[in-house]
Amino acid sequence: MNLPKSMRIVEVGPRDGLQNEARAVPTAVKLELIHRLADAGLPSVEATAFVSPKWVPQMADHADVMRGLRRKPGVAYPVLMPNIKGMEAALASGVDEIAVFAAATERFSQRNINCSIAESLERFRPVVELARANKMRIRGYISCAVGCPYEGEVSPQAVADIAKALDAMGCYEISLGDTIGVGTPGKVQTMIAAVAHHVPVERLALHTHDTWGQALANIYAAMQAGIATIDSSVAGLGGCPYAKGASGNVATEDVLYMLNGMGIHTGVDIDKVFAAGQFICEALGRAPNSRVAQAMAARQVAAAA
Ligand code: HMG
Ligand code: MG
Repeated sequence: MNLPKSMRIVEVGPRDGLQNEARAVPTAVKLELIHRLADAGLPSVEATAFVSPKWVPQMADHADVMRGLRRKPGVAYPVLMPNIKGMEAALASGVDEIAVFAAATERFSQRNINCSIAESLERFRPVVELARANKMRIRGYISCAVGCPYEGEVSPQAVADIAKALDAMGCYEISLGDTIGVGTPGKVQTMIAAVAHHVPVERLALHTHDTWGQALANIYAAMQAGIATIDSSVAGLGGCPYAKGASGNVATEDVLYMLNGMGIHTGVDIDKVFAAGQFICEALGRAPNSRVAQAMAARQVAAAA
């Protein structure tokens, strides 16, 4: 079977993983997490979101996070970007990669960013212009690429249409988000095929949430379709505050264990990611939402006994 020989993992824990946390996580803890993840060999660590603090209070310290970052050469630190106001703040904080985010359904777009899909694309236009003028890389997200908490089934063509628009704007990569984790492998492959008709599969990524336990199967299905970039979150943290019923992202540890077992290169050290997961879970006062991290912890306990 023709699977990619190596996979790129985009770590979204410090943003997608933490954005839903009710209690404020100190900036210093976020920075330590980001530094540990970069040190583990992850090539891209989404650091924060320049969204409105009225909408997502946990990301209110976005500028401090970016200013406090100790950048590791070769690592990208993208930030989520909703509008020109966020962009101006990002420019003043040393951001060099942004991620604009649209949705495949109207109701999710309204709930998440308070505007229609068409309005969101218009809103991104000046953002992207400013980003290009400042030599920033631009990533694109499409939420509800397989299912929507408000509209149910989503047509692959609707996803393809947004992908086309984001591609035309200059996104170097488009991440297809199963925001509420309802996708199954066949549906994911059908959606990817529809999008790949317009945007080369080499420039597509899959972003999964594991609500229904399908994330790893969907990732494998996406790899069969030629996808070589996966978004995941350390310790399986995460959830979108505007996606009813959404749970954590697929855990980075789980993705790494699968890829390591298949002999697929990632350049990421699973032990270091596991340790980063233990660090953030301790800070949050909870157990990791990762089967692999739980198994690694049990093995550690057994070895120490
Ligand atoms: P709005 O209320 O329509 O905008 O929100 P507004 O322009 O009327 O502004 C409201 C207030 O927010 C104003 O403050 C603005 O100044 C301020 P006030 O005048 O009342 O004091 N404001 C800002 N402050 C800081 N930075 C900004 C900013 N913009 C406005 N950038 C808006 C529209 C888009 C801002 C809002 O809806 C928003 O921030 N939404 C973000 C929601 C979000 O972050 N959702 C989670 C991330 S998406 C996700 O998780 C999915 C993904 O993981 C993929 C997947 O899983 O599918 C990416
Ligand atoms: Mg997400």
